[in-house]
Amino acid sequence: MTASAAKDIIARAVEVLKENDHGDYTIPTKGLYPFQWNWDSCLTALGLAHYDEARAWTEIETLFAHQWPDGMVPHIVFHVWNDGYFPGPEVWRTGRPTATSGITQPAVAGFAVRRLFDRARDRKLAAERACKLLPKIDAWHRWFYENRDPNGEGLVAIIHPWESGRDNSIDWDQAFDRVPTEGVEPYIRRDILHADPAHRPTQAQYDRYLWLVQHFRGLGWDNALLHDASPFQIVDPGFNAILIRAAADLADLAEALGDTGIAKANRARAEKSIAAMERLWSEAHGQYLCLDRLTGKLVDSASVGGVLPAFAAIPQARAAAIAATVERLAGKARHIVPSHDPDDPRFDAKRYWRGPVWLVVNYMIADGLLTAGHAEVARRITRSSLDLITESGFAEYYDSLTGEPLGGGRFTWTAAMVIEFLRGM
Ligand code: GLC
Repeated sequence: MTASAAKDIIARAVEVLKENDHGDYTIPTKGLYPFQWNWDSCLTALGLAHYDEARAWTEIETLFAHQWPDGMVPHIVFHVWNDGYFPGPEVWRTGRPTATSGITQPAVAGFAVRRLFDRARDRKLAAERACKLLPKIDAWHRWFYENRDPNGEGLVAIIHPWESGRDNSIDWDQAFDRVPTEGVEPYIRRDILHADPAHRPTQAQYDRYLWLVQHFRGLGWDNALLHDASPFQIVDPGFNAILIRAAADLADLAEALGDTGIAKANRARAEKSIAAMERLWSEAHGQYLCLDRLTGKLVDSASVGGVLPAFAAIPQARAAAIAATVERLAGKARHIVPSHDPDDPRFDAKRYWRGPVWLVVNYMIADGLLTAGHAEVARRITRSSLDLITESGFAEYYDSLTGEPLGGGRFTWTAAMVIEFLRGM
């Protein structure tokens, strides 16, 4: 790509970010997602920093202003009323001063804050803002291990598919059979008013998403109870890897800022969890797999959630095997990295997290593979991501076989990731 083509794409990405900027937080896209989402915001901050560092810090601070007293950072903050999204605050009823959802999302904040800090041109501003976020992110990490790893295994579970950020992945299908649908209050989905139903989760999945929300609401959103009471407890390798990477990054950041207590605690978390991840490795698939905590069995589903651990400092041999897996996937799908292995009969190139490509996931995998010394595979992922943008614009996700843009258009974190990809070229 020529320098002027890259400049033009960055200018268009900045337009998308500005369009979705509500002053002190961004929304993922107009229509489909009119509130602030947790991991969207953290990754978006990296794009915002390209043209306004102070604004980038504010993005993450706004999210953490709505952290729960127990340490959890919710997956959605409903800053303003909007009836374009379901389930809204009237369903969650979490009782927070500003309405939020009652579940969390991948803990990418520690990584994002460290990256903002490392790259900051304004060092003084960065040190001030990072110092204030440090204890809050640490509290969130502690919350994870206290509430989602009751037996101290070093691996945390998600209790709702939405927590993974990969809403309708094939990974959840089996465990979802255990989630009942009796008693789900009547509702009207809004997502399918904004996007093609064939590209979205199914009605049967939505019923179960809502059953879980109602179940947790019935327990007063008390995090001391929810994990054990959930019929859905999945240890997702991608989710854990993000937390591990964030803990290691937070430890480095805390060291740089002179907070040895936070540094030590997060280093210990990262080390224990990296070792525990071995339990999730599948030699047959050349990647990690989810563990169903209630059956104690690995879930035979080769999703991108098991490739994503490249983002954390996994053992060299694991990173090399994952790099080879990505190369194999490149032989099966025109665009990488597909959210599921195309050889699996359940693969669906267009349906959300069951086959399409997502640029945020690509960014994290490429970043990890580059650090692990697999520069060629990392470059291949970056090239594929940029091809998608040039061909299909800033979509929410893309058909991994054809490159067709899918879901919401003019998507904030996609735009932020493009800026990141081009930055590294
Ligand atoms: C969908 C995605 C999730 C994302 C959210 C907002 O729910 O699955 O990962 O955070 O949309 O973009």
